[in-house]
Amino acid sequence: MGNTLAPAMSSEKEEVYQRCRVKIEALCEGEDDEIAKMASVVGVLHNEMRDFFWTGFYRVVSGRLVVGPYQGTVGCLRIEFGKGVCGTAAARGETQVVEDVHEFPGHIACDERSQSEIVVPVMGKTGELIAVLDVDSENKGTFDDLDQKHLEKILKQVFEGGVTA
Ligand code: SME
Repeated sequence: MGNTLAPAMSSEKEEVYQRCRVKIEALCEGEDDEIAKMASVVGVLHNEMRDFFWTGFYRVVSGRLVVGPYQGTVGCLRIEFGKGVCGTAAARGETQVVEDVHEFPGHIACDERSQSEIVVPVMGKTGELIAVLDVDSENKGTFDDLDQKHLEKILKQVFEGGVTA
């Protein structure tokens, strides 16, 4: 049973991500306002993806992360680089996949219902860090390398203007 469940779930996830990517690309085509694009990415992902309890961007503003477009319960307004999961992703420039937020040192609990989290750095057209995308789930272990692969691909397409492979 355990062996048959995992592939079915991951192919469903693949399908939903493909659908999201098509919608997001159509919405953002020709748009160069970053906030409009962030709002569109959040609007699609939050409503299409199962278990996306909080979906939003923290933008890089004067060397700090400041909350941007999001859907979900009220989020923290500002996060320092290096702090929490978002600040760690921003400081390292690397996606953070956290199976259990209670195990992540310094995790910032904006909503105590959050149990697992993925944070993906967002680069602009010239390769500079402009934001991070933060997604929280009420369940443990929601996010894996499939989420990482698809979210990185979508963000690259929308904000850097290209996808490699
Ligand atoms: N949990 C995040 C903070 C942002 S909120 O969850 C919306 C973190 O540790 O960076």
